[in-house]
Amino acid sequence: MKGFYTALVASAVTGAFAVPSPIVEERQAAAPCTTAVTLTGNPFTGRKMFANKDYTEKVRLAADQITDASLKAKALKVAEAGTFLWMDTRAKIETLEDNIKDVPCGSIAGVVIYDLPGRDCAAKASNGELAVGDISVYKSEYIDPIVAIFKKYPNTAFALVIEPDSLPNLVTNADLQTCKDSATGYREGVAYALKSLNLPNIAMYIDAGHGGWLGWNDNLKPGAKELGTVYKNAGSPKQVRGIATNVAGWNSFDMSPGEFSKATDAQWNKAQNEKQYITLFSPELKSAGMPGQAIVDTARNGVQNLRKEWGHWCNVKGAGFGPRPTSTTGSTLVDAFVWVKPGGESDGTSDTSADRFDSFCGYEDAYQPAPEAGQWNQAYFEDLVKNAKPAL
Ligand code: BGC
Repeated sequence: MKGFYTALVASAVTGAFAVPSPIVEERQAAAPCTTAVTLTGNPFTGRKMFANKDYTEKVRLAADQITDASLKAKALKVAEAGTFLWMDTRAKIETLEDNIKDVPCGSIAGVVIYDLPGRDCAAKASNGELAVGDISVYKSEYIDPIVAIFKKYPNTAFALVIEPDSLPNLVTNADLQTCKDSATGYREGVAYALKSLNLPNIAMYIDAGHGGWLGWNDNLKPGAKELGTVYKNAGSPKQVRGIATNVAGWNSFDMSPGEFSKATDAQWNKAQNEKQYITLFSPELKSAGMPGQAIVDTARNGVQNLRKEWGHWCNVKGAGFGPRPTSTTGSTLVDAFVWVKPGGESDGTSDTSADRFDSFCGYEDAYQPAPEAGQWNQAYFEDLVKNAKPAL
């Protein structure tokens, strides 16, 4: 957990001599805001991303395992960056309060809403706990309890990423039976989440895939229509700022020419980096009646030219932590670079016999061995640290 640290010099007296003793660092609880927070405009301006306890502890445990002193020091810096907390099951909800109860005034805590029925319809690695049709469970046992917790913290600022991959899958994978089956629940579930979480101290960003997904010329309009329709069905909630892009992704924000700009199909996609994607998609969102601000996940996009293809999403080998969270993005459309995917947590298992094994996690450019999605991969974490750009 983040806080302000004060160095206290403890003095010990031995006999008649005062001997120097180690500096003792004692954490002082940084105070939360004393009045209600109302988020308007860019919620990241003047606020620091909060480093939650869960991920901070994971990083500390990981650093403990590193013997190389300089790598260890770099690893510890990861904890300072501030990474989103994923509510990926109902059981996780009981950890929410402990992770958000002491967010200092001047910080903003990031949380990912991720438990739709029939989750991850076009892949297997992140299939969730709720089955297609469990929409009432999603509402009453997942969204409602989360809302109740947020309501207890009106003095705290929150940024939410809403349901990664869900609506983008309905745009581009609509022909898969699993996505057909999930469609109604996704639309109803996302609308319910947006409506229910529309509190003054919360800013919401609906997941919009990335440039290599909805950025194709033919996907921009249908993508904006899909998101815009759900947004309007939710009653156009005031606290929706726009979209989250590149969540758990690998694309550069502004590398030019873009990584796949020489690919044979590049002529069909002008969104060769996330900045271009947002520039192209934002006006479409506005035409579809939705706000078009964005946040971009830069947690693991430090290194480019690693993937054989744009669509390779699983534990990309050689990746490094990317630009640190900041609201200085150089684009008025981009509220912040954020770390959404907790670097070190797997995207999916490489165990071919596992139920959730997805072939993407067995590709040549996917790091192996890898544990189940969300589980810690120490070796992969260490590589992210070593390959971080900018260096940690
Ligand atoms: C997994 C989640 C996990 C998240 C963050 C997703 O791919 O399915 O279980 O919480 O990544 O690591």
